[in-house]
Amino acid sequence: MSSSQESYLNPNPNQPRHVGIIMDGNGRWAKLRGKRRIFGHEAGVLKARELVETAVKIELEALTLYAFSSENWSRPKKEVSGLMRLFEKTIEKYTSLLINNNVRFKAVGDPSKLPRILKRKLEQMESITSQNTGLILTLAIAYGGQQEIVSGIKRLIEDHESQIIDANEITVESFKKYLLFQDLPDLDLMIRTSGETRISNFMLWQSAYSEIHFTETLWPNFEEQEFLEILQTYSQSERRFGNVEEDIELKKA
Ligand code: FPP
Repeated sequence: MSSSQESYLNPNPNQPRHVGIIMDGNGRWAKLRGKRRIFGHEAGVLKARELVETAVKIELEALTLYAFSSENWSRPKKEVSGLMRLFEKTIEKYTSLLINNNVRFKAVGDPSKLPRILKRKLEQMESITSQNTGLILTLAIAYGGQQEIVSGIKRLIEDHESQIIDANEITVESFKKYLLFQDLPDLDLMIRTSGETRISNFMLWQSAYSEIHFTETLWPNFEEQEFLEILQTYSQSERRFGNVEEDIELKKA
């Protein structure tokens, strides 16, 4: 039995609590097959489903998937509307899968430009699964890390003007409540598929101390085995959070 299969059967106590994935490469995957980009996105959805099932099996606490960035609105109209329809169908199709697997679903991002029907379906899915206690699955949709920070600052200024918060009470910890993902642990591990080595505005604040793993694999080809191997590597890594080794050992003692 390979070591990654072992960790599959026995959740590793050192595994990350929160994993974020930039699912990239659907378009290139489709192009390689002489198909339209939407065909790649459909394959991407199936892959996301597989990975969610794996995350449930290994008892991961939180998984965040970057489905649509603030910048993706500038893609050709036809691709954007195809993606919106696909998201809508996906929510409909997988509601019972999430319920049966005790998954709590959340959507983060700026919903103002999303089609009304999709917005409603996302809200419904959040509410139906809100009492679930297993994996927290977050879909970052119409999401941008810079936009998240700017809108947090705007709300902080409002609170400061209404004397709800004083300037000297503003700390890294207290600012978190103005951001999204506030009830989740910060990102431990970020994975980006398809060979691009950028983080493209994904969870900028929450990834301050993340391990980052870039793989050449196009998202629709990303197999469970590779995911488990990445988690295995993570669990063997030493995270120092700016400290030196000695301090970490002292804290553990
Ligand atoms: C990147 O491929 C992917 C996207 C823009 C987002 C769409 C993602 C999915 C449909 C998968 C999962 C969806 C859900 C709802 C869980 P790309 O188009 O940037 O690929 P390319 O870089 O090869 O062109």
